[in-house]
Amino acid sequence: MAVNLLTKSDDYLHWRDKKLANAPTQLGDCIVEIQNPFKLSNTEKNKIIGLCQKGNFALFEIQPVAQYGEAIISINQQLGLKDFDAHLFVKTGGLAHITQSNNKDQGEFIPYTDKNIGWHTDGYYNAINERIRAFSLFCVNPADQGGVNEWIDPQMIYLLLREDNADVAKALTHPQAMSIPEHKVDGKVRRSTSTGPIFFIDEPTNELYMRYTQRKKNIEFLNSLEIKQAVEHLDALLKTNTDHHFEHLMQSGQGLLCNNVLHKRNAFTDDKDNPRLLLRGRYFNRIE
Ligand SMILES: [Fe+2]
Repeated sequence: MAVNLLTKSDDYLHWRDKKLANAPTQLGDCIVEIQNPFKLSNTEKNKIIGLCQKGNFALFEIQPVAQYGEAIISINQQLGLKDFDAHLFVKTGGLAHITQSNNKDQGEFIPYTDKNIGWHTDGYYNAINERIRAFSLFCVNPADQGGVNEWIDPQMIYLLLREDNADVAKALTHPQAMSIPEHKVDGKVRRSTSTGPIFFIDEPTNELYMRYTQRKKNIEFLNSLEIKQAVEHLDALLKTNTDHHFEHLMQSGQGLLCNNVLHKRNAFTDDKDNPRLLLRGRYFNRIE
């Protein structure tokens, strides 16, 4: 991708036309059935990679296996996703178990509850050297009711915003657009303050990247009318339903592989004996 698409209009137009020509709009075209998670065929692998190049995500399906964790780690590794984020609640092999938690410490974090989670990219608070460029989400067990995921390619959101209003898109590239204060536990800093743009070119990959969250708690936008209005504009666009918004309730055996798409989760109700369980991996490199 052209490194100057944010600043050079020729580069932008070239990138925009290619993006629009290739972007998937039908979910059914984006599902890859995997026969053997421990040995992807070239066709399966190429289809996943091709979908991620065009729209930054692919859905996949596998048949029931005894150890879902091993199967997912294997799929991810075959796609080059090895460099995982070993954050607080990650278990062996880099997967976190996303399920309702009774653990008080873990239960403070919304993913481990049954609540709605607004639009966000993963790791929006991470330092540059721990930037999340891809994640996988796999459904071992859906909720009794609810828990639908929605997502949109963040590069497409940038494109749609810029087509709609170039000033809005530009405001969101301000180097101090969004800050997340440090996270302290018992007086100890677990994560330092994170300040940066919402849209920017991720230098190591030369790709347009987005860090964003709709969480209101502990998020500070730069105190300028321009940025405040731009964020409102972004949220209004996210609320609409374009051809590029996707929505899916993952069933057992289904998963999402993506280059950190902007996503949300709807609230859910669990069957107490059989709670919702998703396996999530976060990686520092992209699928490409
Ligand atoms: Fe997330």
